[in-house]
Formats: sequence, structure tokens, C-alpha cells
Amino acid sequence: MIVKTPSKVILFGEHAVVYGYRAISMAIDLTSTVEIKENSDKIILNLNDLNKSLKLNLKDLKEIEPNNFGDFKYCLCAIKETMDYLNIEPKKGFELNISSNIPISCGLGSSASITIGTIKAIGKFYNKPLKDDEIAKLGFSVEKKIQGKASVTDTSTITYKGILEIKNNKFRKIREDFEEFLKSCKFLIVYVEKRKKKTAELVNEVAKIENKDEIFKEIDKVIENALKTYNKEEFGKCMAKNHDLLKKLNISTPKIDKVVDIGNKLGFGAKLTGAGGGGCVIILVNEEKEKELLKELNKENVKIFECKMVY
Ligand code: PMV
Repeated sequence: MIVKTPSKVILFGEHAVVYGYRAISMAIDLTSTVEIKENSDKIILNLNDLNKSLKLNLKDLKEIEPNNFGDFKYCLCAIKETMDYLNIEPKKGFELNISSNIPISCGLGSSASITIGTIKAIGKFYNKPLKDDEIAKLGFSVEKKIQGKASVTDTSTITYKGILEIKNNKFRKIREDFEEFLKSCKFLIVYVEKRKKKTAELVNEVAKIENKDEIFKEIDKVIENALKTYNKEEFGKCMAKNHDLLKKLNISTPKIDKVVDIGNKLGFGAKLTGAGGGGCVIILVNEEKEKELLKELNKENVKIFECKMVY
């Protein structure tokens, strides 16, 4: 049994969302894959990309503390939470093979993707498939247990797919007609550089900016306009405008700005996505200039991923 799970990007409103303004997130087709198969009395976890394996006795599962298991912590916590929720007495063991083409630690929700994939796989394996609402709740609870603090952005976007508006840690699906428009858009996710700071550090630095509220209000206006346009050129301009405002929050870097400039020149528009301090840029592709865009990006020693919205 194989479960494929998307990842996510923040299209607009990162950081503003911490202060009760909205952010817009979108599920994308960079995916993680969880394969589950029967194994008599053991739980075997294989993280194929990291070349790491873990073997546990089924009967020990109840006692373990996932946070002590390094790279396996999300997956183990997802297994425990799901089995508890479904009241499954662990009698039948399993092997989970996990792989992913989602760049890690750069705001694309790679751990949320694996968490949601594991929850779904466990439900299916024990013949108790879960509803989206249950999956999203379990996913959020796993992120909270592992990270201490979590936002619904990653787990909800990855569970419900399409595009969501996030506000005050609640979410709603964006109108179907707007989803239709986004279906026709092709994006590039460009992994530019390793993040120099963690999300929490960047959030703390933004907190010290005096005129941040003015900037967030501007970002909110950009979002209002972006959601009214069904035109790629206009939508790209909104992305560029959001990036300019993020620059005022000091979370961009020279390398990120350079890639954004290329995206604005040879695509419809670009911005950094996520907390900043490095990480990824999202570019809305203008197919007429795509070859030139790729040529310029390739000079920058970056990793390029083509992606589309998943719905
Ligand atoms: O950690 P990331 O890159 O997924 O970004 C989080 C987005 C922020 O708005 C900066 C923080 C948050 O909790 O919403």
C-alpha cells in the first residue's frame, strides 16, 4: 500500500499571519511517499533518503518517547497518535518505507507531509481509513507534540489540498473559481540557499521592527488584490509586491533577492516563501520565456523544482 502526500508553499502573508493577518498557502506536487507492508511482530521504519533504519518490537511502542528518536520522531509520533486514536492494539507489525523529493528545512512542510502520509498509511493498513478532518487534527497534534508549538498551516494545507486562507490558526478553503485559475499556473520552487536562521529566530527579529503593522496591512491589501485577479501577469505583480514588503521586514538575503529579480524579469513574478533568512523562492512561470528563465537560474547554483497546485 502506497500513500503519496503533497507539500506546501506560502503564496502570500508569511510573518503577517503571526499577528492575526491572513496568509495564503497552496498544496504543491513535490511529494513524500509512504509505503506500508506487513511484518510479523516488528515495526521497521526506513528513511530511504537519509539511509536510516529503525527496528522496534511492537510491544515497546506504547512506552517510547518519539522525541528521543531524532529523524524518526515525526513518523513515530504519527504512528502512536493514530493507533491510540483508532484504538488499535498492536498485534500486526509493519514496515514503513519513506521517501520524499521535498527539500527539507526550507518552509515546504516536508515533516508535515511525512506525518500526514504516515497517519493515512496506518489508517489504511488497519482497515480504518480516516476522514480529512481526523487526519488534519491528528497531524496538528503530532506537530504540537514534536515541536512544542505549531501552526495549522502545513498540516491543513497538506491534508485538504488546493489553496487555503490561514488566519488566527484557523483555515478556510479559497473559492473554487480561484482554484481553477491557479490550476492553469506553473510555478518553480527554487531552493536558493540553506536558511541561516530558524523560523522562531526570524519571527523574533520581525517582532522588533517598529513599523511592522503598517507593512502587514500593506501585505493584506496585496492579498486582497491577488485574490481578485484571474490574470497571471497581475498575480505575478502581487507576488513581487509581497516580496518587496518582506524585504522591509529584513528577512530576505542578497542571493534570494537576486533569484527574485530573475523571476520578476523572466517570469510573471516571484517572492521568497516561508520564514526567510535563505530557503526557497517561488516563481510564477511565463511559459513564453521559460527557457531563458531556466538558463539564467542555472547560472546561480540553485536547485530548481517545477511544480503545480495539488487539489
Ligand atoms: O517555517 P516556515 O518557513 O514554514 O514559515 C513559517 C511562516 C511564518 O509566518 C514565518 C511563521 C508562522 O508560524 O506562520
